[in-house]
Amino acid sequence: MGVSRPAVNVDSFMVTNRIRQVTAANETLLSFLPTWEQFRHEPDTANFAFGNPQEMVVDGFTSALARATEPHDKDHYAYKFSEVESRVTVAGHLTEWRGQEFDPEDIAMTPGAFGAIAVALAALVDVGDEVVYSDPSWFFYRSMILAAGATPVRVQVRADDYDLDLDRLAGAITDSTRLVIINTPHNPTGRIYPPSTLEGLSAILTAASDRFGAPIYLLSDEPYSKLVFSDASFTSPARWYSHTLISYSYGKVLLTPGQRIGWLAWTPSMAERESLRSAVFMAQVAGGWQFPSAIMQYSLAELDRLSIDVVELERKRDLFVSELRASGYDLQPPEGTFYLWVRSPDPDDVAFVERLAKEGVLVLPGTTCGSPGRFRISLTGTTEMIDKSLPVFRAAI
Ligand SMILES: Cc1ncc(COP(=O)(O)O)c(C=O)c1O
Repeated sequence: MGVSRPAVNVDSFMVTNRIRQVTAANETLLSFLPTWEQFRHEPDTANFAFGNPQEMVVDGFTSALARATEPHDKDHYAYKFSEVESRVTVAGHLTEWRGQEFDPEDIAMTPGAFGAIAVALAALVDVGDEVVYSDPSWFFYRSMILAAGATPVRVQVRADDYDLDLDRLAGAITDSTRLVIINTPHNPTGRIYPPSTLEGLSAILTAASDRFGAPIYLLSDEPYSKLVFSDASFTSPARWYSHTLISYSYGKVLLTPGQRIGWLAWTPSMAERESLRSAVFMAQVAGGWQFPSAIMQYSLAELDRLSIDVVELERKRDLFVSELRASGYDLQPPEGTFYLWVRSPDPDDVAFVERLAKEGVLVLPGTTCGSPGRFRISLTGTTEMIDKSLPVFRAAI
């Protein structure tokens, strides 16, 4: 996403059907990128389009990486798998944080949550299987499901509070459903699913697995689980549903998505967890060596203790939410993540976002997240950017 791309017409040469489908699924995002490219380098642009840093990296990040470049033996820069030190760090942290005893062997180190999701799909989902997820959603679930040769099945979240719609979800499950993906804290709405919802989801998946005689796996995508505001708390469905895998990325808590590290973990209560270990390992190798680099793994013990300033993020949330509401915008305060999900005053969110861009404010059209008529603001923009953008938002409504 960093350099200018040649315009690609996928009909003009032979590409796989999967990539044609992925390209079609990303039509709005691809057509938004030239606008983003055009304005994001302008010095006055208030850039809230993606979860990218707009300020310098957190203290301690570069010094941890610098220390990790120093080789301690001849294997320092050899091929890296999920290194024992990394797995022990993650399992220890998870056990303390989540109150479940995670085994380091049940942690696969990946290049971010992207890698973890790709590996979970490769290990668990066959061509033709159905994968259920909710809209609005992070824009690449659909693409990744299609790239795995599976069939995406989408279910709308509840319109009033953005909670999972369990009735709809139960209705979407068939004997071809192999995997359900949920994302909490949720991009783009900022919703954190409450324990009652997760318990209900677990009951639905347990009953469906029993009915069809094979487990339906749950992938709980949790890259924002450290970005939770003071008026909310986070719980993972792994507490209730033993066939849960968790995907995580350090790219959000450190705001360093350009240095790839994350993990895929599965619950200590999963009966087939030992078989999953080798399946995930082979999926990582065959999927193009889906392991983080040596430097990222050797710096992990230090990186694991760092975070962006969540108090400051909450201050920006409160400021932005109250100012936008005062101007007449309709939005709910997020409970976590660094996004605001706003109703577009113009039902054509793509046109509205183009208008804002011309006034120096970059936000993301809701259509890219499967929800026309909304737009997403990333709170990774600076306070100066927020101040600059408020009169533009006021005038645009
Ligand atoms: C919900 C969700 N899942 C996964 C990812 C991928 O995270 P990363 O790029 O850090 O791997 C993102 C990134 O925006 C996301 O929002």
